[in-house]
Amino acid sequence: MHSFRYVGKELCCEGVPLSTLARRHGTPLYVYSQATLSDHFTKLDEAMAPVDHLICFAMKSNSNLAVIRTLADLGSGFDTVSAGEIQRVMAAGGDPRKCVFAGVGKTEEEIAFALRNEIYSFNVESEAELRRISRVAVKLRRIAPVAVRVNPNVDAGTHAKITTGTYENKFGIAFEEIEGVYARAAKLPNLRLRGLQMHIGSQLTDVKPFRLAVEKVVPLVTRLNARHGFDFFSIGGGIGIVYQSALESGNPSWWTKGRGRGILTPDRYARTLVPLLQPLGLRVLLEPGRFLTGNAGALVTRVEYIKKTGRKNFVIVDAAMNDLIRPAFYDSYHEIVPLTKRGGATVSSDVVGPICESGDYFAKDRPLAKVSEGDHLALLSAGAYGSVMGSNYNSRPLATEVLVNGKKSAVVRERQAVEHIWANETPAPWQRR
Ligand SMILES: Cc1ncc(COP(=O)(O)O)c(C=O)c1O
Repeated sequence: MHSFRYVGKELCCEGVPLSTLARRHGTPLYVYSQATLSDHFTKLDEAMAPVDHLICFAMKSNSNLAVIRTLADLGSGFDTVSAGEIQRVMAAGGDPRKCVFAGVGKTEEEIAFALRNEIYSFNVESEAELRRISRVAVKLRRIAPVAVRVNPNVDAGTHAKITTGTYENKFGIAFEEIEGVYARAAKLPNLRLRGLQMHIGSQLTDVKPFRLAVEKVVPLVTRLNARHGFDFFSIGGGIGIVYQSALESGNPSWWTKGRGRGILTPDRYARTLVPLLQPLGLRVLLEPGRFLTGNAGALVTRVEYIKKTGRKNFVIVDAAMNDLIRPAFYDSYHEIVPLTKRGGATVSSDVVGPICESGDYFAKDRPLAKVSEGDHLALLSAGAYGSVMGSNYNSRPLATEVLVNGKKSAVVRERQAVEHIWANETPAPWQRR
């Protein structure tokens, strides 16, 4: 459940009308609900309570310092994929000792940085990486905690670009090879074989692929734990969220009476997985990203033009694919609603941005309330893989981000000044005037 809903005719985030925020801060504007972040974290944390566990928020989904701080204050750890992300955790007041460090391309410098800051574990993606971590640990006279990422070869049944647990993907080490890898790793100096990790994909709305992967991997963990004395097993992230009925899903009754019955809730997830995990007697790590941040954010944009061609009604807005690339990149759906509710007939519309790419669109042939120049729209469920994937394409500044807490709101990222886009660039010496 989330905290974006109409109060009267005004779309609000918690106790603050989005139109107030759009007026105050301009657009494009990301708005995050602190209550939603807390609610989603707490629901998952409570559902997993029967096992010792640590939620490591996958901050690749949203790494704004205020979002990190919200989750750190609730006790969250962090799933990171670069030294930069670990630095962000520290900058937000989070604990690097609750960080796991994933990713296929860790550099020596990143490994050294993580070791010096005593991270919880490296999630290792190859044998070459194990050897490199061992070498760096020896040089620094440290013991490196490691978990190897197993690729269970289970199809998550999600979009190809966010499937990670099959042998077509670059991630992890094949299930059949894992025991040999651990046996060789045990001979490398300065490594502590602390656990095993997996992650099969993102935006899973059915618990079945999770169940199949856990059922397949648990016997392997049991054998490895007996040999190497593990502390944890990480089941990765991937819990899906509601995109299609985002607005309705903010209503509690949607979850109990209506379509919410078919959605993967923390309860459903935990009810299926906890009984499979409990016999391991290990700490369970979870790495949710989208589940914590997705429904907690909206992208607010202003309508610049309405352009009718022979075939189409284009609603041209001031946000673009540089602000939210998911529709262009993954064909993803974001519900689009006006900030001020209106009745009347809908118009089949393409909602597009100002960037010079045909791929710069947010919706195609979407029945949309009739809007005019100067009206505002909100793209819902935009809190995950939204602003973090932002770019300066077409020299467009990164959007403002605001955090709402009840009736309070605060800018948590200023709109980028346009000169900052080229602040690190300079003409070559022979071009200077
Ligand atoms: C290793 C790992 N863990 C966790 C996540 C987070 O996934 P999600 O946002 O779907 O929960 C990802 C996403 O790519 C990932 O690669």
